[in-house]
This record gives sequence, structure tokens and C-alpha cells, in this order.
Amino acid sequence: MAKRKSKFVCQSCGYESPKWMGKCPGCHQWNTLVEEIEATKSARGNWTKDSTAARKPEKLANIQLQDEPRMKTQMQELNRVLGGGIVPGSLVLIGGDPGIGKSTLLLQVSHQLALDKLDVLYISGEESARQTKLRADRLGIASDSLYVLSETNMLDIANQIDQLNPSFVVIDSIQTIFKEEVTSAPGSVSQVRECTSELLRIAKQKHLPIFIVGHVTKEGSIAGPRLLEHMVDAVLYFEGERHHTFRILRGVKNRFGSTNEMGIFEMKEEGLVEVLNPSEVFLEERSQGAAGSTIVASMEGTRPVLVEIQSLISPTSFGNPRRMATGIDHNRVPLLMAVLEKRVGLMLQNQDAYVKVAGGVKLDEPAIDLAVAISIASSFRDKSPQTDDVLIGEVGLTGEIRRVSRIEQRVQEAAKLGFKRAIIPAKNMDGWTAPKHIEIIGVQSVQEAIKVTLGD
Ligand SMILES: Nc1ncnc2c1ncn2[C@@H]1O[C@H](COP(=O)(O)OP(=O)(O)OP(=O)(O)O)[C@@H](O)[C@H]1O
Ligand SMILES: [Mg+2]
Repeated sequence: MAKRKSKFVCQSCGYESPKWMGKCPGCHQWNTLVEEIEATKSARGNWTKDSTAARKPEKLANIQLQDEPRMKTQMQELNRVLGGGIVPGSLVLIGGDPGIGKSTLLLQVSHQLALDKLDVLYISGEESARQTKLRADRLGIASDSLYVLSETNMLDIANQIDQLNPSFVVIDSIQTIFKEEVTSAPGSVSQVRECTSELLRIAKQKHLPIFIVGHVTKEGSIAGPRLLEHMVDAVLYFEGERHHTFRILRGVKNRFGSTNEMGIFEMKEEGLVEVLNPSEVFLEERSQGAAGSTIVASMEGTRPVLVEIQSLISPTSFGNPRRMATGIDHNRVPLLMAVLEKRVGLMLQNQDAYVKVAGGVKLDEPAIDLAVAISIASSFRDKSPQTDDVLIGEVGLTGEIRRVSRIEQRVQEAAKLGFKRAIIPAKNMDGWTAPKHIEIIGVQSVQEAIKVTLGD
């Protein structure tokens, strides 16, 4: 095979160069040159055509759909996040921090599919076949149709897939796979992109579902799965706290289902176990029924998260009252306290205030205002709000509750986690359908919200 040429192309202005440069001479930006393989005519032809006849436009109404059955794993949580199971021919990316349990999850899924007499190929570029066997032994996995391959060369991987013709393939991880034609190291942007497009081609041609593991770097840009998100059919994030055993699987993008779903697992000695009652898990950490504790549904990027906000209001002993905030903008606290004082009549000027977002999360969006305000009022009055309330809303300077974005997603997340009441801006009441089993209360002012949550 003739060696294919590569060139470096500026991702911002399109400048081409045979060598890598730190600064683009075209647009003078730094680090924008990325290696690209010059596609030959035949390579491009392969990509778009899988038959000799040229494709013709078809009428949408005439396109026949076969009812494609989805492959179901035994993990309901995973099936739900995928939109009802694995779609044949789909390319799915699973991202997550190191050691969170990506390999464990995919090995378990592979095992479950192998039990259904499907040939499964688990390709690990990070661990030897023996290491994978060690993990499998710990998880109690032994199956006749589960094949393990320790390989990093994309060409060999493609050949092996051709030979074995499996029904499900796992690539762990995309950052370790390389193509010989690309000179940059495995894990670099160009390698990751080239290998993924090759896998995409294999998945679509063979109608084979492929799951790819992607590492998330702190910066998130270079060689991270961010770049891949456009290429794949679904992106799932596997996340969890370092000191806790719970893991959450969220869909960030899904071409075959909703991204509002999340799956919760617990990491145990024998592997990941589904948690089918997430609200209880979530409530475990909460200071239930304590004054000053409220729950907000906040958006983290495109994802809603439910977080507890805690406040402690106590009389100032001397000097100026203190205003401390952890996890939220510290200017919001005095502002919301001023609103509470002026519009609701709470005498907060001689009180110290400590406001904290539990669990070390950082929130910076206006929709958390209401939860913070009610939390402060609750601690000041020493009256606890109902434990299954979730609060969403921005507070204006006149004490009005302002509209927030993505209300439906926030409320859905709250309903999913078992909350019974959502207190939301009155202006957000229309134009969407509320999930069942959750009461929606629209409020116009902080005063009204206090009345609803804390009583008179
Ligand atoms: N004996 C054990 N008992 C309980 N949990 C364990 C045990 N061994 C490993 N684990 C858990 O499994 C995690 C490692 O899982 P896994 O290797 O699947 O993660 P990963 O996301 O693939 O990591 P990497 O990014 O390194 O590939 C550990 O962080 C730990 O939480
Ligand atoms: Mg791993």
C-alpha cells in the first residue's frame, strides 16, 4: 500500500503547511495546526459509496424502514440511557474520568451480550489480555463467545473485526489506537479523528454497534472526546465522586433517544450494580429536614443536576456581619439578603451568613437564586422546608421570580429523583408538559415562594 501523505491544516483559517508550526502564519493564532491525511480519490470513494452504482435521491416517503430490533443489555439503566437498547450500526462514545469504571461497565455489558450467544470482541489498548482476564475473574465473568484482543493498530483491529465478524465491539480506549499513516502520537487530535472515522465506517458498513471509551482530560480540548462528539451517534458520560461508590451515566448526545435520561450504578467488588431507587441514594447524603437546606435543579452545561444548598444564619457577635459563600458567586449572597430584607422584611443586617453548595459543586447560573434565598430565609427563621421540594428560579431586585431556561429538563430530573413538588417561576408554567408524580407550583415573588415552602 502506498504511504499516504499528511499535511497540517489550520483549524481556524484553513492554512496548509507540510510541517507542524506552533503559530499559524495565515491567521496568527497559536496551536491551531492539526495533522490531516490527504485523502486519495479511492479512499474518498470508499467512504461515500458501498456499491458501484451511484446513489440517487429518494423520496422520503418512499424509504422503507425495517423494524430494527435494539440489542438489550441486562442493565435497564444503560438501556434507558441509550434510548431503549443498543442500535445496530451505532457508534457510541463513553467518556469519563480515570478509574471511574468505564472498562468495568463495558466488560459487564460485553459479558451480558455474550450470554445471549452473540459474539463480542473486547479490544483493549490499555491492558493486556491477562489484565482483562483478572478483572473478568473478579467480576465473575466467563463466557464462550466473549473474545479479548490487546491491540492498538487500527489496521489490525479492522482485520480482526473482519475475520471474527462479531455482533458487538468495544474499543478501550480510542486514545491508545493509532493509524500508521498519521505520524503524530496515539491520542493526538489527528489520530483520534482518523481512527474514529475508520470505526464509524466499519460500524455503518457492517451494521455493527461499536462502543468507544474516551478519556476526558482536564482541559477537555486536546485529544479529549469533545472532538469526537460530532462524529459519533451517542455520547455518554460516566461520572461520580472520588470518595463515593455511586456512579452516574448520562447521555449528552443521542441520535436514537432522549438525552434527559440518566442511569445510576454502585461500584462494588463484584462490579457495577444498578441502583433502581436513585432518590433514596441521593437523599442519603442530605441533612433531611434541617433548617437552611434546600434543593435546586441546576443546569451543568446541557445537563441538569440536583444539588443541595445549605445556609447558616447566626447573629453577628461583633463588628461587621460576615457574608461567606462556597460554590456560588459570593456577590449573590449579600444581594439576595438585601432583597429578603427589603421585600420580605427579614431583619438580616445584623446576621452572619454562610452559604454553601453541598458536595463541592460550583454553580453559576441565575436559576439557583430562589433556592439560595429560601435556604437563607429557612435558616434565619429556623424553620425547615419540606424535604421533597425542589426550587428553581431567578430572583430579581424587586423580589420577582424570573423565568429560567430548560425548565422541562430540570423538572424531569427532579421528578426522576423522586421529588414531589417543584416550585418554579410562574412565567415558566406554560408551553411544556410536566412529568407525572410531581406537583408544579408557579410563584411570582420571593414572598410567595417563602409562603409555599416555609409557611407564614
Ligand atoms: N476489588 C475492588 N473492589 C471494589 N472496587 C474495585 C475493586 N477493584 C477496582 N475497583 C473499582 O474499579 C475502578 C477501576 O475501574 P475501571 O478500571 O473499569 O476504570 P476505568 O474507568 O476503565 O479506568 P481507566 O481510566 O484507568 O481505564 C476503581 O477505581 C475502583 O473504584
Ligand atoms: Mg479502563
